[in-house]
Amino acid sequence: MVRYPPEPFRIKVVEPIKLISPEARQQAMQAAGHNVFALRAEDVFIDLLTDSGTGAMSQDQWAAIMRGDESYAGARSYYNLADAMTEIFGFEHFVPTHQGRAAENILTSQLVKPGMFVPSNMHFDTTEGNIMARGGRPTNLVIDEAFDPTNLHPFKGNMDIQKLRNFIQKVGPQKIPFGAITITNNAGGGQPVSVANIRAVSETYHEFGIPFFIDACRYAENAYFIKLREPGYANKSTLEIAREIFALADGAWMSAKKDGMVNIGGFLAMRDGELFQKVCNELILREGFVTYGGLAGRDLDALAVGLREGLDESYLAYRIGQTGYLGARLKENNVPCIEPSGGHAIFLDAGRLLPHIPHAEFPGQSLVASLYLAGGIRGVEIGSVMFAHPDPDTGKIVYPQLEMVRLAIPRRVYTQAHMDYVADVLGELALKAKELRGYRFTYAPELLRHFTARFETL
Ligand code: F0G
Repeated sequence: MVRYPPEPFRIKVVEPIKLISPEARQQAMQAAGHNVFALRAEDVFIDLLTDSGTGAMSQDQWAAIMRGDESYAGARSYYNLADAMTEIFGFEHFVPTHQGRAAENILTSQLVKPGMFVPSNMHFDTTEGNIMARGGRPTNLVIDEAFDPTNLHPFKGNMDIQKLRNFIQKVGPQKIPFGAITITNNAGGGQPVSVANIRAVSETYHEFGIPFFIDACRYAENAYFIKLREPGYANKSTLEIAREIFALADGAWMSAKKDGMVNIGGFLAMRDGELFQKVCNELILREGFVTYGGLAGRDLDALAVGLREGLDESYLAYRIGQTGYLGARLKENNVPCIEPSGGHAIFLDAGRLLPHIPHAEFPGQSLVASLYLAGGIRGVEIGSVMFAHPDPDTGKIVYPQLEMVRLAIPRRVYTQAHMDYVADVLGELALKAKELRGYRFTYAPELLRHFTARFETL
């Protein structure tokens, strides 16, 4: 039996949630066109749609909010954040941004030209979108183990160094404005990357003169996995591990809505002073002055505190333990998941649970819809609704390898009883998996269709 780690906090403010009746859930889904993105959040009991900006802030963060300095330029709040940035990431320059994709937009606007390539282990969809919006081509070079749901590789987010080297030699380093890696690998199941792999990636990029940027979204969870799993790191602090990682890079961007423990915020950091000048100009044009970048002063202060709290090892032990606990309970209940459990989320393997529903009838959507109807739980489909697309040459639909449903766990929000409830509802659903039916679109936009598509049951 996996034990649930007691929360290293107690609850001072509560937000009521309610399980509406099965009939009301049925009605809500009908009105939403069977797309959980279109539900009113109040009609959801346990909301595992995302871990982005949905966490609970601490008393120190709320106190920091009250101390926020709203000066337009040079606010005290900015310098508080700059101190945390230097302590943890150690880059020479940074700008705050309102969230991760704003940083991606600014970075790609300065570096990516049409016909260029940006390799990574796996890009998140906004990163992919921002590279493509500049005419570039995002390329995923994660290790093959990432696509095997039962392979227990400890660092399934690692990049395949041989694939990377071959890729650089094939397209030519002059066509690669920067190389990336995402820690942890969200799109691949929230799986971590080892220091050894990050070092090898850094050396490979640098051998060819390619700047190396890290998508640092969930770097603290990644650092804790390193402490637990990578030989030689058990006695290092997560702060030391983080510093070691970022010392290998030329820059990083972060959606601070994850391991920054805030509801809004992000940054773009780098070593190159010339690039920084250009980034500042773009930031001023699009986001705001260089010392606030589209955030309020109070947001910067909350982030300065949150970055340090996100690295706290008693918090991380609880965080990774909570996710692992849900994964273990689901396994007991015969619900197939991507193993090992990720840091921020459990990825259900809808393809294995619902083998009678073909890709074209969206097994992930079927599971997401059933999970809401059965228990008021909201997850997100990461399968054919999100990724199936026609091949540009043949017109034939290409389906993703895995049909997944992500249950992302907001930070410091839900308790063991909530996790048990989710595991039990899914366990009961697994028993009647054969009764679940497929779906078809009644409406689907061309791009990013999962957000606004509407469905009907087959
Ligand atoms: N990179 C990664 C790895 C992410 O997971 C996200 C967001 C972003 C970049 C973009 O950051 O949302 O602040 O603009 N992920 C959220 C999710 C939306 O649900 O996984 P953002």
